[in-house]
Amino acid sequence: MAEKLVYVLNGPNLNLLGTREPDIYGSQTLDDIADLIEDRARELGLAIDMRQSNHEGHLVDWLHEAHAQGAHAVLLNAAAYTHTSIALLDAIKAISVPVYEVHLSDPHTREPFRHVSYVGMAARDTFQGHGAQSYVLALEAAANL
Ligand code: DQA
Repeated sequence: MAEKLVYVLNGPNLNLLGTREPDIYGSQTLDDIADLIEDRARELGLAIDMRQSNHEGHLVDWLHEAHAQGAHAVLLNAAAYTHTSIALLDAIKAISVPVYEVHLSDPHTREPFRHVSYVGMAARDTFQGHGAQSYVLALEAAANL
């Protein structure tokens, strides 16, 4: 049987992980996180398609694509678009693939403008504040679907 496919979508500025505000986001790069997720996915019998974009519309298109491809789940770290994007909220509501919201930091302990999550309004569940482990926890939840 074909492996279940999980899209891992990353939003703006996450390409700069490693050097970007390491006191908040840690020193791991997005490639390091990809390696971590790949290793866990292999153990769980899942296939990963990991992507990053600084453009909101790319994230919307990739959510649609995940649906069209019959993906098992999506892990979405929409970064700052989490707190602004009704387009992402609508896209998550428009597709039947379960979407897990992921954040390295815990936005609820940060500035008030990060306390609103449009992604969280439609996501199946949220994993935040555990650094790169937030992705692994979300992947494990997706594996248990
Ligand atoms: C983030 C949290 C967001 O508030 C922020 O805009 C990011 C990263 C996180 O992973 O902790 O860019 O999504």
